[in-house]
Amino acid sequence: MNRWEQPSGGFRLDGQVAVITGASRGIGLAIAEAFVGAGAKVVITGRNADALASAAEPLGADARWLAGSVGNDAMADETCALALDAFGGLDILVNGAGTNPQFGPLIDADLGAYDKVMATNVRAPLVWSQAAWRASLRDHGGSIINLASVAALQPVRDTGSYAISKAALHQLTRVLAGELGPNVRVNTLAPAIVRTKFSEVLLSDEQAVVDAYPLGRVGEPVDVAQAALYLSSPAASWVTGTMLVLDGGGMAIRARY
Ligand SMILES: NC(=O)c1ccc[n+]([C@@H]2O[C@H](COP(=O)([O-])OP(=O)(O)OC[C@H]3O[C@@H](n4cnc5c(N)ncnc54)[C@H](OP(=O)(O)O)[C@@H]3O)[C@@H](O)[C@H]2O)c1
Repeated sequence: MNRWEQPSGGFRLDGQVAVITGASRGIGLAIAEAFVGAGAKVVITGRNADALASAAEPLGADARWLAGSVGNDAMADETCALALDAFGGLDILVNGAGTNPQFGPLIDADLGAYDKVMATNVRAPLVWSQAAWRASLRDHGGSIINLASVAALQPVRDTGSYAISKAALHQLTRVLAGELGPNVRVNTLAPAIVRTKFSEVLLSDEQAVVDAYPLGRVGEPVDVAQAALYLSSPAASWVTGTMLVLDGGGMAIRARY
């Protein structure tokens, strides 16, 4: 067992139903696996149907999937309806899908790329939260988790649109936490670099990343999944509107300069 392959821990989600966007691979899929391992049923989404079918297959009867972009407003309602039809409820929404197509100085940014970042990373989580609220959370309570990034706290050069979007996403978390309590909790997860397809380019010099993190390794999707499990479980019943940073200590201290 690698040292990041932790046991599922004490957090249970028995009888709970979760919708997880952007879960055909990477962090979203790890969250789906952790949730099913903790007793939940899941509906996962992504744009590629074949990838979703392969991802859902090992999860068996505890998983359903629906293909499409989070930018499709109608799909938010359809996915929540699928959770209700298939599993009889909806308790947890994880807004996992995110994008980062704008590179280079923000001052020269293509505004189409900027709009796409905002649509996927900020508008869509609101639309999906509204859909989950109407479908079930308003009447039965539950929890929402938004997948932001440490870039919400400290921008990284040449990915300004992404940093702005993730900061806005955390502010969305705080606004909704204020509006939806006491029965619905809303929290942000803010990972640093986690080993997924999304971060491949950032890991071309993995040692430099490792050196920047006091805990001496890159994050793995399961690290984020365990935190999502905690935040959606009853163990976090007094936690809302907060950001849980998962960064191997990287934000605590600069590596140099
Ligand atoms: N990896 C990191 O280092 C890191 C660090 C901080 C934060 N994050 C955040 O964590 C989240 C997940 O990232 P990841 O690293 O797990 O990425 P990933 O491995 O590339 O997975 C992204 C998932 O989201 C889906 N997706 C992408 N765009 C979508 C859209 N418009 N509509 C629906 N589904 C979409 C992808 O499937 P399809 O392509 O088939 O749609 C895939 O299932 C993102 O919000 C990202 O910003 C990642």
